[in-house]
Amino acid sequence: MASRRGSQTVQLPSGQTLTTFTKSSTDDEGLPHATKKTMADHLRKFEALFNLTPQRMRMIVEAFRESLELGLSKNGQIVPMIPTYVFGWPKGDETGNFLAVDLGGTNLRVCLVTLEGKGKFEITQAKYRLSEEQKQEEGQKLFDFCGGCLKAFVDANQETGLIPKGSILPLGFTFSYPCSQDRIDHGVLIRWTKGFGAPNTEGHDVVQMFRKSLTKHSVPAEIVALTCDTTGTLIASHYVNPKTRIACIFGTGCNAAYMEKVKDIPKIAHLGIDPEQEMAINCEWGAFDSFEHENLPRTKYDQIIDESSNKPGEQAFEKLISGRYLGEILRLIICELIDEGVLFLGQNTYKIEIPYSFDTAFLSLMEMDPTEELLMIIGIFNHFFALETTLAERQFFRALAKLVGRRAARLSACGIAAIVSKMGYLEEGCAVGADGSLYNKYPMFPERVHEGLQDIFGEKGKNIVTYRAEDGSGIGSAIVAAMTKARKDAQIYPTL
Ligand code: GLC
Repeated sequence: MASRRGSQTVQLPSGQTLTTFTKSSTDDEGLPHATKKTMADHLRKFEALFNLTPQRMRMIVEAFRESLELGLSKNGQIVPMIPTYVFGWPKGDETGNFLAVDLGGTNLRVCLVTLEGKGKFEITQAKYRLSEEQKQEEGQKLFDFCGGCLKAFVDANQETGLIPKGSILPLGFTFSYPCSQDRIDHGVLIRWTKGFGAPNTEGHDVVQMFRKSLTKHSVPAEIVALTCDTTGTLIASHYVNPKTRIACIFGTGCNAAYMEKVKDIPKIAHLGIDPEQEMAINCEWGAFDSFEHENLPRTKYDQIIDESSNKPGEQAFEKLISGRYLGEILRLIICELIDEGVLFLGQNTYKIEIPYSFDTAFLSLMEMDPTEELLMIIGIFNHFFALETTLAERQFFRALAKLVGRRAARLSACGIAAIVSKMGYLEEGCAVGADGSLYNKYPMFPERVHEGLQDIFGEKGKNIVTYRAEDGSGIGSAIVAAMTKARKDAQIYPTL
């Protein structure tokens, strides 16, 4: 009897392709898999797509630098370059008890920070995971949740005696989304990023919204400063390592902050601040190349991610780099190869076809797999997606993860290089405090950033060294609150 075994690709009315596979009941040869050669041919195609030459990187750096300068000169530019009203570096003698609330991309964290001076501190904290629903619900409800968690935290720490009853603690609020600020305890949300979409928040002052929640829950705290995680990281890192000039976050989102002279921030010239005064700038560089898409090398997978996101066109740089998207890039490639009939013929692929089901942590694990058989990768595909893989396929997936992870690190190097070249830090060199899950957990991410910096700058690129930063959204936010209190008490720009 002729074998009925074979595959067929059918075009659906929706434009998608459906691959069908049949095999006879007597067939015991196992599932069909792509050959080693097929996988190698595919890999070559993806290598060409995801590779970034040093020359291309230098072109990106040039355009990036122009974007940074434009953002400093005028309001409403693609890269917002937000003046933060954090005036200069910490002195290191900041002391006292502060509350810090950090509404991050993945968690809400509330902390009690005791600054002890001389770069020393203590921190007590609680973390709450944010659900996907919470990120989309009414803005005020989201802040009320933060207020409720803070209230529970303060009550618990009053019980233990860590927080004295009757005291009103100064609070640093880390809100890591682009906000335009007229002063340090104010911030109008320009746009949500990192998949948040809570209505009635964009265009509103988030400090005022959070104050309302604190009142509602009778929290004995006073918001002194609104900061972004990058600004906090810049300040906290400098507190312990004064060579720090730049701070970056490579996590669910990506962004950087650095210190700028007020005379080089033309858009705030009208405020009458001493031109020699320094102020931290929150770049919000995740927005680089948004809408225009003229400078970054976007593949069709990046375009699909962008178009199907809740913010099409926005955060163009971030969508190529940050932890929220890397797993999805790999998943889209795998799904394309499933549609083409190259991968997983005859297996039920519905699990891997669910958008965002392929966590970026899987890429880390795949790259880290120490076994010859790539057992970790077997486990991931088997356990999470009920799929069986051959060694050739697993080697291919691992190589793909490397391409996606390496491109992210090299693009990150372009961002750092743009600030370095704008500020003229290359000759004397500088330290870059970096934080976030990609930087801390993705294997080889820092090494690849450093390699990228050398591809851009040559030998001198070695002068720019990234290192694991201090906790910006907890400690950094508390230091900013302390600096702000001291500045206002001394009547220095008290209205800003
Ligand atoms: C996003 C936010 C930015 C934040 C970064 C890292 O880019 O817009 O404010 O710093 O993520 O968390």
